Amino acid sequence: MIQLKSREDAVWLGSRSLCGIIGFTGNGDALGIVLRGLKRLEYRGYDSAGVALLAGERIWVAKRAGSVDELIRTVGELNAPRTGVGIGHTRWATHGGVSDRNAHPHLSCHGEVAVVHNGIIENYEALRSELESRGHTFTSDTDTEVIAHLLEEELSKHGSDPKEALTRVVTTLKGSFAFIAIGSALGSRILAARHGPPLVVGYRRDACIPSSDVLSFLELTDDAIFLENESCVVIGPGNVEAWLVSGERLELKPVKVAIEVADIEKRGYVHHTLKEIHDQRATLLRSLTAELGPIDEIAKAIRSAKKVFLVAAGTSYHACLIAKYVFAEIAGIDTTPVLASEYSLHSRWVDNSSVVLAVSQSGETADVLDAVRDAKSRGASIIGIVNMPGSSLERFSDLHLNVSAGPEIGVAATKSFTSQVATLLRVALRLSGSPIPFDPQRVAEAVEEVLELEQSIAEIARELRDFKDLYVIGRGIHYPLALEGALKVKELAYVHAEGLAAGELKHGTLALIEKGTPVVVLNPHDETYHDTLSNCMEVKARGARVIGISDEHHRSYDYFIRLPRMGSKYATVLLEALPLQLLAYYLALERGAEIDRPKNLAKSVTVK
Ligand code: AGP
Repeated sequence: MIQLKSREDAVWLGSRSLCGIIGFTGNGDALGIVLRGLKRLEYRGYDSAGVALLAGERIWVAKRAGSVDELIRTVGELNAPRTGVGIGHTRWATHGGVSDRNAHPHLSCHGEVAVVHNGIIENYEALRSELESRGHTFTSDTDTEVIAHLLEEELSKHGSDPKEALTRVVTTLKGSFAFIAIGSALGSRILAARHGPPLVVGYRRDACIPSSDVLSFLELTDDAIFLENESCVVIGPGNVEAWLVSGERLELKPVKVAIEVADIEKRGYVHHTLKEIHDQRATLLRSLTAELGPIDEIAKAIRSAKKVFLVAAGTSYHACLIAKYVFAEIAGIDTTPVLASEYSLHSRWVDNSSVVLAVSQSGETADVLDAVRDAKSRGASIIGIVNMPGSSLERFSDLHLNVSAGPEIGVAATKSFTSQVATLLRVALRLSGSPIPFDPQRVAEAVEEVLELEQSIAEIARELRDFKDLYVIGRGIHYPLALEGALKVKELAYVHAEGLAAGELKHGTLALIEKGTPVVVLNPHDETYHDTLSNCMEVKARGARVIGISDEHHRSYDYFIRLPRMGSKYATVLLEALPLQLLAYYLALERGAEIDRPKNLAKSVTVK
């Protein structure tokens, strides 16, 4: 733990970060509000945390490696000042070790400015050399630290005009950043800037809370000002002024955030992840029935496009892979799923006759945003399929749909995945002009039936807890679900897992199957059933321990997780992820893994 009262004490190593940032200025206890906000932001990064408070002429800082809870415990033992101005940070390191010294906030030479930052300052080495040649002393290798020094320098020149100082600093920086700063000469004014990563201001008449995310201030206000990219901002208690570096003043309008505080609580569950798996009773029904905004315009754009790309990362990409089957089978439309991080290969085919459907729970994934920016510059129409209202992707898209899963706090995507699949299914159905081929209410009941299997799935997990490798196989539309199931097992239980197209086993991976190897076979009774069963027999013949997930039992299964009979392949697909999520969750529980915040991961991946 480092508690800094002056800049001279500070020596820490460099880092670049994802992270959550928050500030508070106004009528209230800044420390308590910032710490509670950091708890809500912890899903964005959780390897270290820190706060800075304005105490009269001085800035008080406490920061440490570890969770926000550890920071809270440590701060409790200190004599923190009571003040209405503060900032805080929770970190996900990409460069540099996790240590007290790497934690934010970072201070300027004389401790007059404190900064929290999300993103990367690409030209920080050059800036640092220049600052050093002008006499600044650096005690860390962090890119963030240059912001503190630059602000201190500019504020000393333009102290009476912090807007000018901030504009000059932002013009100097290159890269992707959102930062929030307090200064001993700024009083209750907070400076902030957004150039890439998200920044939103919670608004009240007597206070403002700039933050990475609305979830951090919902308890205080549901009025939010989403800042445009490239905004510079001065924030005071109850007032926000924003402008571009060109000097153009930006119109700001608070909007109501339609998220209930109760939606972000665990509501009696041990983990957010488990609660969110259970939420699917309601979320799937909502995603299948909610008003879908501009769905007709979206269908029209897709119909008239020459090429349709589905761009996403991680779990959202798996939803896109399912959508490829759904669009082809239901609407006769060919689509190209693209991993956002591999988009550059595909960009040459993107033009003004293309539609890019960008799918993202957070709407903040850097790879996705980079891809859509490029696609837009080539003239493509951008359709965002998002879960977080007000997200960067939503705001950047020409048209968007909300998948209506509600806030998802657990780092592992669960309910957002099934809601994405449901929403994409509805788009395909609208394209074909057909109604939903099953009763949404029946899906909600079936979710309940699958959740009733929770204890037997927990028992299977107990028996599998010591295995080092696990395979998940599926064919056709079940193949992306195999990928998704394996991803859940990896990130939640830290067990190596591989999702495979069932037919691919014999082309290599079968060599790894030996006596006792767990293989999950996704095999609902549809046109893929018999072929998948043959693949199941192949692994069985090599000694595999088979976990069958199907609506039909087979004697080759050592364990059987029964899916309800739905009479529609697409309804079954919506249910299929649930036993996989539960299996991964209980494996993680058995193995003592950190479930809501798996190690090394963050929910919103806002750097490349
Ligand atoms: C899923 O469990 C992951 N944690 C991750 O793969 C996630 O789906 C990916 O980072 C994409 O996030 P997004 O949907 O917010 O864009």
